[in-house]
Amino acid sequence: MKVLVTYFTMTGNTEKIAKAIHDEVSKEHEADLKKIDEVGADTFKEYDLVFVGTPAHAGDLAGPVKEVMNSLPKSPKYKLAGFYTHMAPIWDKEVQDALRGAFEKIAKEKSIDYRGTYNCMGNPDPNVAKMVKEARKMPDDEFNEYLEEAIKHPSLEDEQKAREFAKEVLSKIK
Ligand SMILES: Cc1cc2nc3c(=O)[nH]c(=O)nc-3n(C[C@H](O)[C@H](O)[C@H](O)COP(=O)(O)O)c2cc1C
Repeated sequence: MKVLVTYFTMTGNTEKIAKAIHDEVSKEHEADLKKIDEVGADTFKEYDLVFVGTPAHAGDLAGPVKEVMNSLPKSPKYKLAGFYTHMAPIWDKEVQDALRGAFEKIAKEKSIDYRGTYNCMGNPDPNVAKMVKEARKMPDDEFNEYLEEAIKHPSLEDEQKAREFAKEVLSKIK
């Protein structure tokens, strides 16, 4: 099978997961790893399966990812899977549902065979983390506790889970 792993990243979190997925897929398949600005709808057509990765931006897919996803033609032959990283804690279901929903909505609109989504926390940019602290009026101790956990991600365990996700997606494709 020919597989593309494509992603957008600003601070490297989503890239870590993209590399883990690409590494796993490469064990048994021909796989390419490309940044989203290197690909377009025509690139997707060359593959049997495409993994698309994005950071959460304002509760949605990042702009460059959305742009490419929106440009995909209807009913393509390839299958699609999504992955994303976010600063929200893993128990905060709101952002996770929003991003998963965004992938699923585009796939549905385009009649794309969508095979699932992986997500994990990412180490937040310090300025963004500070903005969130202020916007949410988080007390220092609560924020520090959050940050102490957040900076550990994506962890080796997150990368391992991403590999397992990729294996599962592949195993369900004949
Ligand atoms: C402009 C901007 C908006 C963001 N919006 C969200 C958000 O709505 N929810 C969230 O959980 N994280 C949000 N984040 C945090 C990123 O999604 C998170 O740090 C992610 O892991 C970054 O991935 P990257 O290192 O691949 O760029 C935002 C970050 C930026 C820069």
